[in-house]
Amino acid sequence: MSEQEAPTLQAQFAATNGDHQSLWKALWDNGTYLPWDRGQSSPSLVDLLNDHPSLITPSSSSQQLTALVPGCGRGYDVLLFASHGLKSYGLELSSSAVTAARENAKTSGLNPELHTFITGDFFTKNWQSGENSGTPEEFDVVYDYTFLCAMDPSQGLREKWADRMAGLVKKGGVLVCLEFPLYKDLELPGPPWPLREEIYKGLLENVGFVREMYVTPRRYLESGEGSDMVSVWRRQ
Ligand SMILES: C[S@@+](CC[C@H](N)C(=O)[O-])C[C@H]1O[C@@H](n2cnc3c(N)ncnc32)[C@H](O)[C@@H]1O
Repeated sequence: MSEQEAPTLQAQFAATNGDHQSLWKALWDNGTYLPWDRGQSSPSLVDLLNDHPSLITPSSSSQQLTALVPGCGRGYDVLLFASHGLKSYGLELSSSAVTAARENAKTSGLNPELHTFITGDFFTKNWQSGENSGTPEEFDVVYDYTFLCAMDPSQGLREKWADRMAGLVKKGGVLVCLEFPLYKDLELPGPPWPLREEIYKGLLENVGFVREMYVTPRRYLESGEGSDMVSVWRRQ
């Protein structure tokens, strides 16, 4: 989401009666205005995984780590984790996004057993059972980019996000956040709703995460150039 495009997105969210989930779905169903979609993973995540392979390396060769990307959009990050050998799951509210992610995955050349895309609401557990039985309840790695900032803080969703993250990351596992947008005035409307280092700390320390790394990226997507930070949170 660039600053140039965001006002239109903000105007659309401001015009709802608060039912943001319906708007996310409508945007994907329409498919013509998806300003957050950069067509690739952030190089900041690519570099983190290359520079710190211990984050995604199992402790024994018989173990396969699992990754979850909530609000995965077209699933670029899911495929990135899959390319590192993790059994990777993408979760999307929108079935149209899931269809687009599955199409995108077909061109990746990756083993299809390594990537699964699921339609569901992050705040419920419904997507981990029924037709998706076999989906893990907890994951070794969860990645958040442009997902927390998609939650309207005035709806109390940030605290719910933190509670749910604590339930989804295994004890000893990690939540990786590409913190965005840190540059944006706190009074401005979203999405993306503005965030700060202190907001992540307050939310995640409160639910049993300890920050183990705080990294200034070497490379960025243009939308976060010079301001995004990567934080890695270990669940105790
Ligand atoms: C700003 S977009 C980012 C998408 C993707 N991470 C990217 O960077 O391309 C936020 C995404 O979160 C999805 N989303 C919003 N609320 C959700 C929820 N409660 N559960 C699952 N997905 C959700 C939306 O459909 C949307 O695709």
